[in-house]
Parts: sequence; structure tokens; C-alpha cells
Amino acid sequence: SSGVRRADDGALEVAGVGVAELAADHGTPSYIVDEADFRARARAYRIAFEAAFAAVGTGVDVYYAGKALLTVAVARWAREEGLRVDTASGGELAVALRAGVPGSEIGLHGNNKSDTEIGRAFDNGVGRIIVDSLAEIDRIADLAVERGVVAPVMVRVTTGVHAGGHEYISTAHEDQKFGLSVNLASAVPDADSPAMTALLRILERPSLKLLGIHSHIGSQILDPDGFEAAAAAVLELRAALAARTGVLVEEVDLGGGYGIAYLPGEVALDPERVAKDIASSVADVAARLGTPLPRFSIEPGRAIVGPAGMTLYSVGTVKPVTVGGDGEEPFTRLYVSVDGGMSDNIRPALYGADYHAEIVGRSSDAAPVLARVVGKHCESGDIVVHQVMLPGDVRAGDLLAVAATGAYGRSMASNYNLLLRPPVVAVRDGASRVLVRRETEEDLLGLDQG
Ligand code: LLP
Repeated sequence: SSGVRRADDGALEVAGVGVAELAADHGTPSYIVDEADFRARARAYRIAFEAAFAAVGTGVDVYYAGKALLTVAVARWAREEGLRVDTASGGELAVALRAGVPGSEIGLHGNNKSDTEIGRAFDNGVGRIIVDSLAEIDRIADLAVERGVVAPVMVRVTTGVHAGGHEYISTAHEDQKFGLSVNLASAVPDADSPAMTALLRILERPSLKLLGIHSHIGSQILDPDGFEAAAAAVLELRAALAARTGVLVEEVDLGGGYGIAYLPGEVALDPERVAKDIASSVADVAARLGTPLPRFSIEPGRAIVGPAGMTLYSVGTVKPVTVGGDGEEPFTRLYVSVDGGMSDNIRPALYGADYHAEIVGRSSDAAPVLARVVGKHCESGDIVVHQVMLPGDVRAGDLLAVAATGAYGRSMASNYNLLLRPPVVAVRDGASRVLVRRETEEDLLGLDQG
């Protein structure tokens, strides 16, 4: 059994395991991941994209973006569902390799990769290194010569297409650190765009193999138009490179960013619909350009793991705060403190992200009241859920769950105030299993050299 349901006593069950049992066995706060749900989403993305791209005569690889949440088990699930793994650092690469993902099925990203990270990619036969600057092209080419290898590379370009949620997570603006622009000319009139310059530079280096072009336009995108516009710009660049050099690159990666529902009533991007829209749009563009379609790849992270995860907290202090006056109608907001906060989910503080919370250990007939769920850190921006209706009898000891925290919760967690980072617990078929254990004070003190 998978999925979330309320038992007769009002207590929430995840994949057949009650929240009281989860709290008793693993403590709170804990990240709970529904394995079957993760697998179903991974499969749904793979199958939807494979079908849509097969229908226009080409193939697609789906890379799970490990930055959203990567543990050894999670990487294995992704692989077992036919996904590859996208990594963005030596640490993510290490976890993917530990999970037994073959290097050839791993991609390595990063705007500032170290020589060690690049060397590790070579040593493990990483299938593609996505380059992000001219300087990096030279560095990887030189390192490849030293090691006697040919490095498979893609160029990350920016298309000027801007999509997605918050400014910090929209990566296709021109004035930001990622990628090489397909639009901006250099200071020299009639010079090539940085993207074209990068592609030409790679072709000049025998120690590099140019696999293709990569574009990631942002995150939490709920409208497929941005993917289509970016894909068109990439295919145009590909055709321009072919016209110029005779080299038609084989692969185009459209990045991640597929949006999910965080709140009740929100609607996630539908993988089947977005896959069909993108596939038919790239087929039209390729036909117009007179070039055969490349093989595609995509890198969803949030859409696979976000909805599969929730955070289970215990309620502590409950404090009514009356706000308003000064002409405003005063109202009371119930501040409900939980035993975690911005250290286990920085997204509300960092992006103003909204989440939904419920009391999950019991049912309640009490009238709902306007509440704000806050953490236990020493700053007022430590908000878990800005605004939610909770039963008026919410009290210390209640279990409270925040939905859709599977992506970028644990992966962006910190030890602020020296809180111990919560465990990642997988649930499946009525049983739970610890994927990453809770940190201990010994873990923290072990790092402190006195
Ligand atoms: N590929 C590349 C090159 C990326 O930079 C990203 C995300 C992804 C794939 C996966 O994107 P997704 O499908 O998960 O949206 N920490 C932020 C999100 C930053 C995402 C950065 N790159 C958040 O919590 O919303």
C-alpha cells in the first residue's frame, strides 16, 4: 500500500504506517518518504517522456536531480525505475556511486567544479560533464589531456527564457552565474554569442567530446511554454553550429523544474501533458530548421521526490498573538511551535515558500483557528507554515505533518543553533526503514576540534 490516508481514529497513515508509530520508532522531527510514491512519480515521468518523444521519432533519458534529495537508497530507487542520476558536486557523485549507479548513467553539473570533482568524474567514467564557462572548458580539456582521457561534455546555455517561482531559483536570467548565453554578444560587434563560442572551443579540443547542449530554465514551473521556448532556442543554436561546422550535436537536455502542488487545491504540472507539449513543439521546430531531432534528456528533481515526502513534527509551545490595531481590525493568530524549523526546511524563510500543515495524530471537532507554524530557532523568520487553519484545541504533544517537503528539505538542511538534522525514514508496505539516521550530539561534537 502507498499513499496517505486517515485511519478511523483520525490518525494519518503513510503507506500503511501510522504517524504515532513513526514518531515512536524514529522520533520527531523526521522526514518521511513514501517509497512507492517516489517510484510511481519516477516511473510516470520516464514513461510519459519516453512515449511522447517516441511518438515524434526520438528518445529521451530521464535523470533524477539528486540535489532535491539524495541518499543511497533514493539513488537506487531512481535507477530501478529506469532513471539516471544528475549530480552537482563531489558529495552527490559519491552517493550515486555508492548506490551502484554506473558512471555512464551519471551527469555532473556545477558552475565551479574543483579539479578533484572533475578527476573523480573521469575516474568513474561519468557519462557527461555539463560545462558552465569558457575557463572550465579549458580546464577540463587540460585535465583530460593529463589523464589521457576524452571527456564527454555538454554546454549549459542560457536562453533568456525565465520561468518558475522565486527569483533565486530562476536560473535563465542573463544576469546570473549559470550558463553561457545564446543571445548576448560579446563586447565585440558581430562576435559569436558566449554559447556558440563555447561550442566552437570544445570542437577545437581533441580531449573533449561534445555531446550536446543543456538548458535549465528554473524551478517550480507550472506552465510548459517556457520549456518549449527554451528548447526552440537550443535547437536553433544546434542548427547554427551545424551550419557553421557540419557538427550536429546528438543530445539536448532541457533541465528540470517541473512544478508540484504544495497546497491543497494547487495543481502540479502533468508529466504526460508537458511531455506531449514539449515533444510536439520540438518536432515542429526541428522540421522548420530542417534538422533531425536530437536525443533529449530531462532532469526532474522536485517533481519526483517533493510530493513523496513530508515532515513529521511534535507541537510544543502554543501561543496566541493578537495582531492589528492602528486602524486595522485586530485578529488573533495562534503561533504553534514545532521541534524543528528553518534548519530542516529553509524554503519558507529563503523563498517565502508556502506549505500546508495538519494535526495528524488524532481527529478534532474543535473549530479551526488561524495559525502560523513556527520552529524553535532564535529568529522571527523561522517560519514553517505562514498561514494555515488548525483545530483550535491544538496542543503540546500533538503530531503535526507538513506536506510535500521531500524536495530541498533535507538536502538544504543545516545545523543552525546546533540542532541535530532529522532522519530520513522510508515507508513502504506497512513498514518503515531509516535511510539516513538522525544526527547525534556526538556527530556535532566530533567535528569540533576544541
Ligand atoms: N537540473 C539543473 C541543472 C538544476 O539546476 C536543477 C535545480 C534541476 C535540474 C532540478 O530542478 P527541479 O526539477 O528540482 O526543480 N533549492 C530550490 C531549488 C533550486 C533548484 C536548483 N536547480 C528550492 O528549494 O526550490
